[in-house]
Amino acid sequence: MTPSGSTTLTPSFPLTFRSAKPTDGARLWRLVQAAGTLELNSQYFYLLLATDFGDTCLIAEHDGEAVGLVVGYHPPRAPDTAFVWQVGVLPEHQGKGIGLRLLKAWLKLPANAHCRWVTATVAEDNAASQALFHRLALDLQTRCEVRPHFTSDLFAQHHPAEPLFRIGPLAR
Ligand SMILES: CC(C)(COP(=O)(O)OP(=O)(O)OC[C@H]1O[C@@H](n2cnc3c(N)ncnc32)[C@H](O)[C@@H]1OP(=O)(O)O)[C@@H](O)C(=O)NCCC(=O)NCCS
Repeated sequence: MTPSGSTTLTPSFPLTFRSAKPTDGARLWRLVQAAGTLELNSQYFYLLLATDFGDTCLIAEHDGEAVGLVVGYHPPRAPDTAFVWQVGVLPEHQGKGIGLRLLKAWLKLPANAHCRWVTATVAEDNAASQALFHRLALDLQTRCEVRPHFTSDLFAQHHPAEPLFRIGPLAR
């Protein structure tokens, strides 16, 4: 957050946004690792995502350096939904409104232009991520429904539950 507790000053922090290219797998992997908190999957996994789902992945750059990302896709059974699988900002840039800007820019990607819903699962102990999605709904003047989804018993090892956040409908 800014000293005033507001995120409205953040547009003065210049960012460029772009979707991911097939060659961005390593960049996505490094960003996820650097953001912290996020589960770091294999490098191969991010190569696959960048190659096949790059149109629904977003990278934010500041002065040519990648500072944030959104990794997403359209669930095959819900093509009007944009699912946020991972969103992350480098620790030194967190709390400046970048997460919110990332999600809004991600929703404007051509691949997401038709989507009327945003979904994400958010770990019960991730206050920053919960606040981010509630704030997105507020800014988009729509609802944010939270319901049980990946309960902790579904995980192979100890893991907090990941309720589903469903934001929408979005005005398009
Ligand atoms: C979650 C994350 C992407 C948010 O990005 P950010 O740029 O720091 O967030 P923003 O500055 O845009 O703030 C968005 C909202 O979250 C709130 N927020 C940010 N950090 C917070 C924190 N640590 N605790 C509580 N609320 C927080 C802000 O106050 C703001 O809400 P408000 O406008 O109602 O005050 C970022 O903290 C991050 O990368 N965390 C590590 C990775 C992660 O956990 N990702 C989410 C799981 S997929």
